[in-house]
Amino acid sequence: MRVVAFESRQAEPMAALIRRRGGEPLIAPSMREVPLCEHAAVFAFGQKLFAGEIDLLICMTGVGTRILIDALSSRYPAEKVLSALGNVAVVARGPKPVKVLKEKRVPITLVVPEPNTWVEIVQALDLSERGIQLEGKAVALQEYGVSNQRLISALRKRGAEVHPVPVYRWALPEDVGPLTRAIEEIAAGRTDVTLWTNAAQVRHVLQVAAEKGLEAPLRRALERGVIASIGPTTTEALQGASLSVDFEPSHPKMGILVGEALARAEDLLREKRATWHLKGLLGSAPFGGSGGQAPSGGEGLRRDSLFLKACRREPTEATPVWLMRQAGRYLPEYRKLRARVPFLTLCKDPERAAEITLMAVDALRPDAAILFSDLLLVAEPMGLGLEYGGENGPVVAGSLTDLEAVDRLGEIRPRDNLAFVFEAVRRVRRRLDPRLPLIGFCGAPFTLASYLIEGGASRSFLHTKRLMAADTGAWDALMEKLTRGLIEYLNGQIEAGADAVQVFDTWVGCLSPADYRERVLPHTRRLIEGIAPGVPVIHFGTGNTAFLKEFRQAGGDVIGVDFRVELDAAWKAIGHDVGIQGNLDPAALCGPVPFWKERTRRILEQAGSRPGHIFNLGHGVLPMTPPEAARALIEEVHEVSRRLKSV
Ligand code: CP3
Repeated sequence: MRVVAFESRQAEPMAALIRRRGGEPLIAPSMREVPLCEHAAVFAFGQKLFAGEIDLLICMTGVGTRILIDALSSRYPAEKVLSALGNVAVVARGPKPVKVLKEKRVPITLVVPEPNTWVEIVQALDLSERGIQLEGKAVALQEYGVSNQRLISALRKRGAEVHPVPVYRWALPEDVGPLTRAIEEIAAGRTDVTLWTNAAQVRHVLQVAAEKGLEAPLRRALERGVIASIGPTTTEALQGASLSVDFEPSHPKMGILVGEALARAEDLLREKRATWHLKGLLGSAPFGGSGGQAPSGGEGLRRDSLFLKACRREPTEATPVWLMRQAGRYLPEYRKLRARVPFLTLCKDPERAAEITLMAVDALRPDAAILFSDLLLVAEPMGLGLEYGGENGPVVAGSLTDLEAVDRLGEIRPRDNLAFVFEAVRRVRRRLDPRLPLIGFCGAPFTLASYLIEGGASRSFLHTKRLMAADTGAWDALMEKLTRGLIEYLNGQIEAGADAVQVFDTWVGCLSPADYRERVLPHTRRLIEGIAPGVPVIHFGTGNTAFLKEFRQAGGDVIGVDFRVELDAAWKAIGHDVGIQGNLDPAALCGPVPFWKERTRRILEQAGSRPGHIFNLGHGVLPMTPPEAARALIEEVHEVSRRLKSV
């Protein structure tokens, strides 16, 4: 857990407490006490007061009233201060200023009753028996925190000349660098818990965030993490700033706050992120719409991510890992949503598609996000029916048996027909951690052709193979039509913000090496050659161990291999001048933890210290996979690979 605290004088003990509870502390001092001599606004008020230019003083808070009188008395004789205050009408807002004024022996003209909001203050003045006339009067308004504009304008409307006297006990630290960096970390979604121990921290953090243009992403990210408050006053300040508090300790003590908050954090995070995404998906998220602006400069940050470095076969300190189908049915929050909304509706709604993409990232913490979508979406633009939800998987309606049928198929024209996918990419990019790459994808021409021809999943792929063998013209026309559209489709995703793309040739393993080489490879190669240069391409297939070399010849910076082959043997087959992705059997994650850990270590050892390995499953996550196992796998890959690479 990465835990942020805003302690200043208590920075060291706070860091130690967090570490002792197993957290990784990020301490960002957010305040410094303002010495009395620094209260310039108070001294300016004093000048006017002594010159007889003030008629009325409104004391808004106890703390502020005390600082005001103490600051004046630190520079001028206390007698002079008291007698000057005795010459003006003093209005106390509620019991706290009353207490201080009595203690300092300043006569009080009027006490504003509870709940003493600006309305009561104005009403009390209007109705006062001593007839406090505001017309033409100079009114000093002691402020603490933000100015109350409604009060100021109500006073002005009554003819008063208002002089705000801002008083702060706490100011920002001299150096706001550490605080700014902490805000950037939070805003980028790289922290889990924030600990708040007083109200001024809330004001200061939001103030600095606003100055850096990070308030919206900060708020969004805070809401996604655990917000822990030490007690009621701090909670009130957080709530007053529209931040909802997730946790308060049993006693308002720092040690208890850290201990109890960290003990609960994991559960709170899980619940919170799940409901947060659901709320967003069901249309009532607090920050719905297109969400906050992501911090700028993301592309530079991403270039050096584990994932993109591995795509370029540069050394990394740990092996990057993501999971095919990481956004899917094994996630309980996804299933909950799917109980209400059909799959295709989700795919076509950019907001929901973006939200599910991010949901998976939050649930797993992988090194890359993959867009939530499906490779079969190209069927509808081509004029074919598409249905999900049946027992045998997706169904594509239409029968392609000859050239005429192929000619009748429409062009995909993604910019017209699949614009919702590009919009989803843009929305993910705006909200995703700027350091995390986003993977776009499409089906390879062969796998898509097989779906279009068979109408769905198939065992023998008989119709596909028949067309391929019997009518080369029709076959090539179909493959070319698909390839044309797919090039535009992937480049559109890249333009919208995808940092890498994966081409899924899921069913390629049903082919003989000769058929692959002659009838499929040239088309896939043309697709991959058509992708914008400089953007890494992962070329994934299953069941193709026998012709991995040819598969690689079709292109790709990284070859995705399934689990039916040893990773080192596969890498040797494709050549070490290309990256490799894979290849734990997804079923392993449904088995005992020591089993999949052993298999994971084995794969990492097979990759050795060679750069260019991206860890993944050998095929998509299975729906029955425990989400904890998927998350634990990601952590395990990071930990074990870091250790292996450091020796
Ligand atoms: O990887 C991700 O998390 C991103 C989203 C993604 C989906 N499908 C979502 C999906 C990706 C990259 C795909 C690719 C895809 N789609 C492939 C290639 C990858 C692979 O697993 O081989 C294939 C063959 C398809 C076609 C497809 N779509 C099938 C066979 C099915 C049904 C069975 C299944 O795997 O779920 C789908 C539906 C589908 N695609 C779902 C999801 C989350 C489940 C739909 C539901 O919620 O009911």
